[in-house]
Amino acid sequence: MPSSPIVISGTGLFTPPNSISNDELVAAFNAYVEAENLAHADAIARGEKKALEPSSAEFILSASGIGRRYAMDRAGVLDPAIMAPRLPERTNEEPSIQCEMAVNAARAALAEANVTPDELGAIIVACSNLQRAYPAVAVEVQQALGAKGFAFDMNVACSSATFGINMARDLVASGSAKRVLVVSPEICTGHLNFRDRESHFIFGDACTAVVVEALEGCRATAPFEILGTRLATQFSNNIRNNFGFLNRAAPEHRDDADKLFVQQGRKVFKDVSPMVAELIASHLESLEIAPSDIRRMWLHQANGTMNQWIARKVLGRDATEDEAPSVLAEYANTSSCGSIITFHKFRSDLAEGDVGVVCSFGAGYSVGSVVVRKVATSRA
Ligand code: COA
Repeated sequence: MPSSPIVISGTGLFTPPNSISNDELVAAFNAYVEAENLAHADAIARGEKKALEPSSAEFILSASGIGRRYAMDRAGVLDPAIMAPRLPERTNEEPSIQCEMAVNAARAALAEANVTPDELGAIIVACSNLQRAYPAVAVEVQQALGAKGFAFDMNVACSSATFGINMARDLVASGSAKRVLVVSPEICTGHLNFRDRESHFIFGDACTAVVVEALEGCRATAPFEILGTRLATQFSNNIRNNFGFLNRAAPEHRDDADKLFVQQGRKVFKDVSPMVAELIASHLESLEIAPSDIRRMWLHQANGTMNQWIARKVLGRDATEDEAPSVLAEYANTSSCGSIITFHKFRSDLAEGDVGVVCSFGAGYSVGSVVVRKVATSRA
């Protein structure tokens, strides 16, 4: 069992090539609303049906901080007659879409860690939605990369990546795997109801990857030691998706709206924000780290105001953009990728010894905190 500190030695990010602005998304939604209201004009006039209300780009930006999002397919999402991504099914001989995204992000993370795929002992695909039941996407990624060892999928919704990092740290600490890749291919547009005014703007697609290994033998130039991880879950129906393998056993409800993402946004905001602030505060206390010693918080990217509230609770004052950076304006909510995208993009300026918190939160409810410190290796 390695007694050496365990580090995050590399991260990678795959960003889909297509971006959709709030204006474009709202135009498609409002065209759908207009067509629906026209089609049901008589029933609406008789008071038998409620007219659908339009969406607004201004509301989206001010309520969430989201400015645009990346998508694996743009045309289907923006077609008022479709309003869903169109991603043609592939043959079993072709790489799956999630595998392709994962390999892309993984290669970048491995390059940063200065590790070759055959040096990995385990691969965890950790994300909110898996495109098939089995074989595990992680095993496909393992083969595509040419890695040995073992691989498995896991899903803790938006907290999948931080729970995955916790798992990876434990696998390295126990000696089960020397190096672990945690990769999160999130195709959130696939589970988003683009006809739901309350949530049609929330998600975007991305894939992140993280390499976890012992500091001893690490060849990265700027690894971050994992000082501690803390996970918590508490059951709630306020973020829910009832899609599953038993849907075909109840065909009368197979295409209902609850087979996509549904949330009570206000309730989630009120329930989850204090849970997250308390978890981070108690985690820091257990590590004997004062909140004033936190250089940066890489928080889950769901709502800008929510993150400001959480950071203020933890720090006891308002956080600057430098202390709690956001990618919401560009990426929207990418589920488990959110906190990792900010960690990927906003850590190179930290100095040796600087401490920060990667924290995710979402459906379950689930919260995952990973406290890290920048360290130097012999190569640095
Ligand atoms: N365009 C215009 N107006 C809209 C709208 C849209 N797309 N969607 C809702 N509205 C209206 C509502 O009808 C409501 O109008 P009313 O005041 O006249 O009743 C008003 O805007 C406020 O709606 P509400 O749903 O209460 O907005 P909100 O301020 O709570 O913001 C979220 C909505 C989803 C952005 C916010 O609740 C949120 O981000 N919550 C946290 C979610 C989270 O963390 N989830 C984790 C998921 S992975």
